[in-house]
Amino acid sequence: MKFRAAGAGSDGIRITMESALTARDRVGVQDFVLLENFTSEAAFIENLRKRFKENLIYTYIGSVLVSVNPYKELEIYSKQHMERYRGVSFYEVSPHLYAIADNSYRSLRMERKDQCILISGESGAGKTEATKKILQYYAVTCPASQQVETVKDRLLQSNPVLEAFGNAKTLRNDNSSRFGKYMDVQFDYRGAPVGGHILNYLLEKSRVVHQNHGERNFHIFYQLLEGGEEDLLRRLGLEKSPQQYHYLVKGQCARVSSINDKNDWKIVRRALTIISFNDSEVEDLLSIVASVLHLGNVQFAADEQGNAQVTTENQIKYLARLLAVEGSVLRDSLIHKKIIAKGEELISPLNLEQAAYARDALAKAIYGRTFSWLVNKVNKSLAYKEGEFPGWRSTTVLGLLDIYGFEVFQHNSFEQFCINYCNEKLQQLFIELTLKSEQEEYESEGIAWEPVQYFNNKIICDLVEEKFKGIISILDEECLRPGDATDTTFLEKLEETVKNHPHFLTHKLADQKTRKSLGREEFRLLHYAGEVTYSVAGFLDKNNDLLFRNLKETMCNSENPIINQCFDRTELTDKKRPETAATQFKNSLSKLMEILMSKEPSYIRCIKPNDAKQADRFDEVLIRHQVKYLGLMENLRVRRAGFAYRRKYEVFLQRYKSLCPETWPTWDGRPHDGVAVLVKHLGYKPEEYKMGRTKIFIRFPKTLFATEDALEVRKQSLATKMQATWRGFYRRKKFLHMKHSAITIQSWWRGTLGRRKAAKKKRAVETIRRFIKGFIYRNYPRCPENEYFLDYIRFSFLMNLKRNLPKNVLDKSWPTPPPSLCEASQLLRQLCMQNMVWSYCKRISPEWKQQLEQKVIASEIFKGKKDNYPQSVPRLFINTRLGNEEINAKVLQALENEAIKGDVVLQSDHVIETLTKTAMRADKVNNVNINQGSIKFTVGQGKEGIIDFISGSELLIAKAKNGHLTVVAPRLNSR
Ligand SMILES: Nc1ncnc2c1ncn2[C@@H]1O[C@H](COP(=O)(O)OP(=O)(O)O)[C@@H](O)[C@H]1O
Ligand SMILES: [Mg+2]
Repeated sequence: MKFRAAGAGSDGIRITMESALTARDRVGVQDFVLLENFTSEAAFIENLRKRFKENLIYTYIGSVLVSVNPYKELEIYSKQHMERYRGVSFYEVSPHLYAIADNSYRSLRMERKDQCILISGESGAGKTEATKKILQYYAVTCPASQQVETVKDRLLQSNPVLEAFGNAKTLRNDNSSRFGKYMDVQFDYRGAPVGGHILNYLLEKSRVVHQNHGERNFHIFYQLLEGGEEDLLRRLGLEKSPQQYHYLVKGQCARVSSINDKNDWKIVRRALTIISFNDSEVEDLLSIVASVLHLGNVQFAADEQGNAQVTTENQIKYLARLLAVEGSVLRDSLIHKKIIAKGEELISPLNLEQAAYARDALAKAIYGRTFSWLVNKVNKSLAYKEGEFPGWRSTTVLGLLDIYGFEVFQHNSFEQFCINYCNEKLQQLFIELTLKSEQEEYESEGIAWEPVQYFNNKIICDLVEEKFKGIISILDEECLRPGDATDTTFLEKLEETVKNHPHFLTHKLADQKTRKSLGREEFRLLHYAGEVTYSVAGFLDKNNDLLFRNLKETMCNSENPIINQCFDRTELTDKKRPETAATQFKNSLSKLMEILMSKEPSYIRCIKPNDAKQADRFDEVLIRHQVKYLGLMENLRVRRAGFAYRRKYEVFLQRYKSLCPETWPTWDGRPHDGVAVLVKHLGYKPEEYKMGRTKIFIRFPKTLFATEDALEVRKQSLATKMQATWRGFYRRKKFLHMKHSAITIQSWWRGTLGRRKAAKKKRAVETIRRFIKGFIYRNYPRCPENEYFLDYIRFSFLMNLKRNLPKNVLDKSWPTPPPSLCEASQLLRQLCMQNMVWSYCKRISPEWKQQLEQKVIASEIFKGKKDNYPQSVPRLFINTRLGNEEINAKVLQALENEAIKGDVVLQSDHVIETLTKTAMRADKVNNVNINQGSIKFTVGQGKEGIIDFISGSELLIAKAKNGHLTVVAPRLNSR
């Protein structure tokens, strides 16, 4: 088969090419397309090995991601890592799952086209982990809201539940998916996840009743026993130890060091709540899990006739209770077979083997149907509820396919046959879709391309699924035909029908050499991924997947709501034979292919580095085998044989225009022509490139390397030139910066001033307003309108008074008070006067005090009595009016010693002074008698004398005729 080879179809390759170019110093190459020796498998594996050693587990082949399971936790899945890949082009970051996830998401949003991410690889290669990580990426990075959070939670939490019921430890993987899963995530027009849907494929039911050595039953059984609360286990009639249950120990490894069942139980229990299980639903579900374990412990013994009898009544009791069926009916249906022939019902007892078969078939049916019910239930909780997101018109979906990987064991049965067939189909899809998108691109661009040798596995798919001639058809025929069909007759039929097929072999058909490796009960298929030898034992039974009618009937009567939904009464009356397991599987796969074909695919190819599940172990033989069957070398060749690099003209021109004087700095014409000029200038040879309608196609990476290198050199020379320009520019920039700063400060300061002024004005206006109002209300009692005004008036009166207080006691000025301050003003005035007087008094000297005392006495004596008293007031009294020479010592002596007798008339120019002093001296102030006319006085022995004072021109004292003494005082001198 020829595969038309060319470059990759999606943008991934083009950008990753550049990514590797800018990070060529990284370990190996990030994109195998960049491998020099691209046809060498050794070089391919060496690149994988180098990167794996540095924990670089992801590498691209164009847009396909190759992932090698590290078997250890790497620090590359944090929220920061997610953010790094969000909305970023492939080439800007190193290869990662998140880049694939983000790329698909962006295509979904921008082109509104459904996407799917196909994850393939053999069991244990890391498919399930990759799926979960992608889902987490969307949960973290997609837009959210309250409702969306619930959807996200449910999408994430559906995983632990389905894994508990559908995954198991196998020899290949401690958490091997034993069912196929395709999950659609629904996004609204804003790119928020609003719903989801899961399609499940063929659960490996046989595991419920049997496990190969080193394998376990489904996780849920061990989780329940290990983690379930005592109360719960008691209700379910279970004991803690898995050793008690036949179905759990067939593989003799109930405990696995890498699995923490107790912890996983907690996670599952919580998840059940999140995906909207209520307590009674959980109880119903766990009752079924427990009933499977009890069923496994049902034992039989043969009676005399060889008919099976139940020997474990206890188990039947528990079963009857847990499944809510009648115990006796259940017991009977386990050991009897009901046959309806010719309208009559016949009951025939089963022998031991048949009874055990019936028991196991019931256990498988119960578990298998419950699993489907569980997926349904999850789907209900994930369903896009339009009502909850009103107005969110259309949705797009992104599908994640995580299906059981290619599987080869020592002993391979019907299940492996189905699983490997499924992987053939996926490989087929990979080839077709890759081919299709390549063809479309070259066709639409008008580019011719070369065919490349490629193994197409369609031939194997046909071998399995072709009508009439295919293995499934032959198997079905054997199952349906009357007569004694057995697994052996099936094998014979196969040998007959497909004996010439190059991918089919049996013991009989093989040559001498190969024959040794094949048993007589086996057939071998040469799968795309390698040879697998299948044992036909059990093929017919598993394909028929029949359950005795009376067991079905018993289940239909169950009052456990889940069992009741799983076993529908119509099955009992439906005469049509149900489709065989293989046919059902074939049909569901064909539907799956249709679903996937309708979407834009992205690929993740998972590789398992060793069979021991060990970190840092790179088993080259094992890896080479996977590289081979995954077709990675062809994949690479296809990309390299065509054009390794392609870009839209606009983008190419934009990146490289600086390399040609005609296109730098701008190209005015069509980008198509610009690119033509550019590549001519660069010296591209005709065989190195092709011009498509919208894109340039470059055949060899080295052409692009050279162009990239030239770009690097050009960038450096541009940088040197720019440095010089930069210095001048830098100074000017600094100046401008400072100028700008100055302006900023200025304007800021002006602003501040302006604001201050405005605030002041505002305050002034308010004050004036208050004053006017206060003035209007000034005669009212104090009220809010006038209080400010009144206070101000008072304040200003007091301030005015302070400045204009009287300076001395004689100063009688005093400001006029406002009406409210009249009394206060009066009191203040008195206080002020008192204060002035007091401080005056404090200040005067003793001499002046004496003077004043004399003046006061003089006032008492003379005021109002003597005409010339007022004139005398300003004249100061003095101590003596005699000069030293005027004092005669003899006279003084005489005056001291002699008593003066008789009346004395004294004449003085200073009458007031003399009298005052004399009176004070004599302490006779009250005895002074002033008389302007005449004075009468007593002259000894009762005789009276009179003195008359007369004004005259000249002083004269004489005895007048009337006997009076007359004193003439000159008028002017009167004192
Ligand atoms: N990216 C990864 N990082 C760390 N360990 C991983 C990674 N992918 C897978 N593993 C390990 O390998 C085991 C098997 O992976 P799984 O995804 O279940 O394989 P598959 O689904 O392909 O059978 C996981 O349980 C885990 O221990
Ligand atoms: Mg898996």
